[in-house]
Amino acid sequence: MVDAKTRLYGVIGFPTRHSLSPSMHNAAFRALGINAVYLAFEVHPEELGDAIKGFRALSISGLNVTMPHKEAIIHFLDSLSEDSGEIGSVNTVVNRNGKLEGHTTDGIGARRALERVIELGERRILIIGAGGAGKAIAYELAKDNDVVVLNRTPEKVKVLERFGITGDALNRGNLGKYLKWAEVLINATPVGMNSWETPVPGEMLRKDLVVMDIVYKPLKTRLLTEAELRGCKTVDGLWMLVYQGIESFRLWTGLEPDEGLMRGAALESLSQ
Ligand code: ATR
Repeated sequence: MVDAKTRLYGVIGFPTRHSLSPSMHNAAFRALGINAVYLAFEVHPEELGDAIKGFRALSISGLNVTMPHKEAIIHFLDSLSEDSGEIGSVNTVVNRNGKLEGHTTDGIGARRALERVIELGERRILIIGAGGAGKAIAYELAKDNDVVVLNRTPEKVKVLERFGITGDALNRGNLGKYLKWAEVLINATPVGMNSWETPVPGEMLRKDLVVMDIVYKPLKTRLLTEAELRGCKTVDGLWMLVYQGIESFRLWTGLEPDEGLMRGAALESLSQ
């Protein structure tokens, strides 16, 4: 029931019409008996500052942040977690007694998604893409593993070198070279979203690679389809979305919602 004590959470982005987060988080609030609702707020980039001012004034309890605000929102927050500060990206805001804290759960979300199918141990990891998601994943995984990031615009990977990450240009030569080296491949670009494109030609994949895509629409992207055809273990992008959501939820409430429940809600919303 929504009443005078109901706490408000939400996602801000532009656009947010297709966000799966409201379904996931509202399902979790219901299941855990938490008196809260989660809404989608479409905020134009020019109005981000005003929106945050409004969220403060209304004491909104927490936010997820998606494209294109993950970097810009930093200017409007009171503090940042270490990870957010290092990579310059925020996907979760926690309102702690009126102070807005920025966090990022994209990296830990990817780690937990991968750990569904393998132990990361000392596996060598190749990431395609150095946008907000690619950087967050690379930073998190490079804490324990050797990581290479290939990006269409090679200048963008330079900032990652101070974390011990190797960066290079995305081209066929480098793909061939680093795919021989890598044991885990992660697509962190939007290539394959709502299309039958792939960032890595199928013939370059080997059976013993673990392949993860951050794209979840379609759920079985061309990359994952071709990887499975070659016998690779795969992880779809919806698992990363689910786990980054679980980690945001934990930051807000201290509770861990059920992953099956969150995924079920996301899948239902995806199919609508
Ligand atoms: P997100 O926050 O989802 O990571 P982003 O910050 O816009 O989104 O980053 C998108 C990433 O996908 C970037 O690494 C981008 O490469 P550039 O840095 O060269 O722009 C990459 N990307 C987008 N479209 C691509 C394409 N068609 N081929 C290869 N890389 C692509």
